[in-house]
Amino acid sequence: MPLRVRPIAHGSADYAAAINLRRAILRTPLGLDFTSAQLAAEADDTHLGAFDGDDLVGTVLIAPYDDVTAKLRQMAVDDEQQGKGIGAQLLSAAEDAARAAGKTRITLAARLTAQAFYERHGYAAEGNVFDEVTLPHISMHKSL
Ligand SMILES: CC(C)(COP(=O)(O)OP(=O)(O)OC[C@H]1O[C@@H](n2cnc3c(N)ncnc32)[C@H](O)[C@@H]1OP(=O)(O)O)[C@@H](O)C(=O)NCCC(=O)NCCS
Repeated sequence: MPLRVRPIAHGSADYAAAINLRRAILRTPLGLDFTSAQLAAEADDTHLGAFDGDDLVGTVLIAPYDDVTAKLRQMAVDDEQQGKGIGAQLLSAAEDAARAAGKTRITLAARLTAQAFYERHGYAAEGNVFDEVTLPHISMHKSL
């Protein structure tokens, strides 16, 4: 079944699946979880899901940052599906969503383990390494 990336509505069953995937990939391995306040705060963001049939295999979200910039957050691909181009498709769809929202720039905080992935897609690192959710991160940005 071909992969399809589409928006998912905050609060929907697909959103619940996205939270489960994000928790499994981005939080549980660090001994962390989302708070209800964190999830409520992303209600107005643009959530995208990569679907293999009905199965959610990846997700990302785009949030407003400033007049010209969108912030890309919570990029996660199922452990067993990584390295097949799903992240690249999600990134491309997120950039389309940012453009559609009138933005000309994307910013993100990359885990150092994902820095090469973003560089390959035109993102440039900026500034010093900092810790977030116990891991070293670096700010990256791309002009759309
Ligand atoms: C980082 C992440 C989102 C990338 O998603 P992905 O689906 O694995 O990404 P892709 O498959 O598009 O690309 C990953 C690598 O696979 C390679 N690749 C892509 N398509 C491929 C294919 N068809 N066959 C073989 N390799 C392929 C790419 O060269 C890429 O290498 P790079 O990382 O050096 O750029 C994913 O690995 C992930 O969820 N990691 C854990 C959580 C995380 O780090 N999230 C980001 C936080 S900032």
